[in-house]
This record gives sequence, structure tokens and C-alpha cells, in this order.
Amino acid sequence: MISIIGSGRVGASIAFLCISNSLDDVLLVNRTKSKAIGEALDISNAISENSNVSIHGTDDFSKISDSDIVVIAASTGIYLKNRTEMMDAQVRMIKEIANQIKKYCPLAIILVVSNPLDVLTFVFQKETQLSRNKVIGIASSLDSSRFRYLLSEKFKIKQSQITNALVMGEHGDSMVPIFSRVKINEKNALEIINEIERKVISTEIQNYWKSLRLFKSRSQFGIAKNTFDVIRSIIKNDELVTSASIVLNGEYGEKDVSMGIPVKINKNGVKEIIEIKLNESESKLLKISAQTIRDYMKSF
Ligand code: LAC
Repeated sequence: MISIIGSGRVGASIAFLCISNSLDDVLLVNRTKSKAIGEALDISNAISENSNVSIHGTDDFSKISDSDIVVIAASTGIYLKNRTEMMDAQVRMIKEIANQIKKYCPLAIILVVSNPLDVLTFVFQKETQLSRNKVIGIASSLDSSRFRYLLSEKFKIKQSQITNALVMGEHGDSMVPIFSRVKINEKNALEIINEIERKVISTEIQNYWKSLRLFKSRSQFGIAKNTFDVIRSIIKNDELVTSASIVLNGEYGEKDVSMGIPVKINKNGVKEIIEIKLNESESKLLKISAQTIRDYMKSF
């Protein structure tokens, strides 16, 4: 079973993708019970005739017992200018959720989606002492999707003609697009995008969530699909290489932080942390990003 804590736009969209693809039974958990029930009633009509999955809504945490995967997409409010705006409340929330998960489904694989993503992923893993390989923060894959999209728009080509688009580090303003790896129509990006253009693109990725909010209240489908891809990889044991936030223990020279790096996902969560070669500038920016996340955590 997949339990999704928080049945707002993102949680409901993740549930819809899981159900419409018949991945597994879904339980939507929300502090407002009617919200969870309403989304479950709606998504129940997306179940195919020959499908065996089901979806239900509740405000009762005890029903997450024996979940194989728990997605944490809950929020105590809506941040406006920075994902760290409600950090204290979000940290309190994730600690409460951590205690419920320790009590009801300590063997589950946890996908953190709530912001500030890297801080909450780190706090959750420390609070529960679950294996770091089973506590996965979903966001750098979303940033990588945005990187790929922005390059496809800039060069007016299909996204399939952009390969190895990867963003690492904080799911925030210090994130690091890895231009030294990405290829555009099989050409090295560093050969066709100059330094000024790279800075412009980096800023566009960092601010994508704000630009999107000029047209809709907040992001929903991109984060949902990136979360669904990880859920699918775990349930189907279909290995997935992606960028995700995980607590580091010396990888990339970093400890005591969770941030986006390339990983291999399978039925057990993170199967492998992938250490790729970065150029000097990328290494420096990644170190700054790691420290940025640590500095946030000094405030609580
Ligand atoms: C965003 C949210 C998911 O980047 O943090 O849209």
C-alpha cells in the first residue's frame, strides 16, 4: 500500500497517477478528513475496469499500518517568497509525522516532498534513524526536468534531444545545474552555452516555481510525476537513475546534510549513490549549496 500524507494538489495528483496506473492501493491521509475522502471518491473513478487497486481517505494515522511506501506531501501553509518561510512549523510537522510512521510502519520507504525539502528529509531521517537509503527527498529530479525543459525551449528542440540534464544540491536558490554533463543534440553544453547564458538559465531554474505562480497558484503536476516515477521504480523494482535528496555520509565530500545528488532507485529505495565528476566551478557551488542547507538548520 502507498500512504500519502497530505491530500492537497500535490498529494492528490500523486495519488491520481498511482491509481490510474494501477500501481497499488492508496491511502490518502489528511488532517481534514473530508478533503482526503473527497479526493479518494473522485480518484476512485479513475480506476480501470480490470484493475485491482483501491483508494481511500482518512484522518486516522493508524490506518497507514503496513504501508510499503509513505509519501509526505503535507504542508502547514503556503510559502510565498522562499521555500524556507514556514520552516519551524514544517519541522514540527515532519517530527510528528515521523513519530506516527515509527509507530505504524517503521519498515516503509519514505518519500519526502514537503518543503523545505532538504531540511525536512534530513530531520526525518535523524528523527526516525531509518536507513538513509529509505528516506528519499523528491525535488532535484523536478529541478532537472525544468533544466531539460528550459534548454529545449532555448534551442527550440524536443526534450528528447536534451540528455543528462541534472541538477544537484539544494532544492532552492543554491541548486547547481550540471552544465558539464548535459548534451544538446549530442553536443556538450559548455561548448554552446557561454557563462552569462549559463547564469541566466541557472536563475531561471531556481525561479521556475515563482514564474509558474504567475499563471497558477503553485506547482503540482511536475513534482507529482517525479514522485510517481520513484514510487513506480520501487514497486516494480525497475531501476531508476535520478537526482534525489539523501543524507550524505562523505559523498561529494559532504556530511551532516541531505541534498540532491544522482542515485539509483530500486525496490529497496536508494540502491546506490552515484558520484559523478564535476568541474571546479560545479564542485565549489555544490559545497556552497550543502552549507546553505546546514545554515538553515542552525536556526532550530
Ligand atoms: C517546486 C516545489 C515543489 O519547486 O518546491 O515547485
